[in-house]
Amino acid sequence: MKVTDAIEKRVSVRHYDPNLKVNVDKILDVFDSVRHIPVAGNVFNLKFIVISEQAVKDAIAEAALQQSFLSDAQFLIVICSNPDSCVLRYGEELGQKYARQQAGAAIQSILLLLTEKRLDSCWVGAFDEEKMRRILYIPDNVNVEAIITVGKRSAVETAGKSQTRKPTVEAFAFFNKWGNVYLVPPKRPTGDYELFIGR
Ligand SMILES: Cc1cc2nc3c(=O)[nH]c(=O)nc-3n(C[C@H](O)[C@H](O)[C@H](O)COP(=O)(O)O)c2cc1C
Repeated sequence: MKVTDAIEKRVSVRHYDPNLKVNVDKILDVFDSVRHIPVAGNVFNLKFIVISEQAVKDAIAEAALQQSFLSDAQFLIVICSNPDSCVLRYGEELGQKYARQQAGAAIQSILLLLTEKRLDSCWVGAFDEEKMRRILYIPDNVNVEAIITVGKRSAVETAGKSQTRKPTVEAFAFFNKWGNVYLVPPKRPTGDYELFIGR
């Protein structure tokens, strides 16, 4: 699958079919690729916890503000970042920022790799971090960045509705300075021209 297709096909799936099983090897293959994400100073500061036990999934669903669909996913992946090595190298402000940005790079990469493997997922960021630490024995100095659900969608899934509400490129792309939606190329023999990025 092309990267473009993975990006455009990925949607948040919140209904999973318990009869359609996911082989854990696929998740390990995803992790094998995620090793290649960019990380500041090439220091990999992330840990991923794969949850398969029903009781733990139920506890996490409760900690995630009662989002019950987390219980129905076959696996949950909890993404954690340890800022210590980044802070040591880059100082408090940049180190904390890099630790979290790297987690974001990993999360989106995991979602795309799961999509490539025809697996469904959802990025879940609404949860009580302290409760998550207690459930999973995560040390206090480690950030709990996200939960990713993994499974195969059920027939009732309505994922994809969000695709009709994506922003246009004009809404977020500027050229050369904030707010400028025109690309003004260098002078040409035929004279200056402006190109509005809307096609
Ligand atoms: C930082 C972040 C936190 C999110 N948290 C949740 C969440 O707690 N529960 C949920 O169902 N979806 C969550 N989502 C998924 C978004 O709701 C979803 O990406 C958005 O509605 C666009 O839909 P799409 O993913 O199908 O394109 C989160 C996404 C991001 C990036």
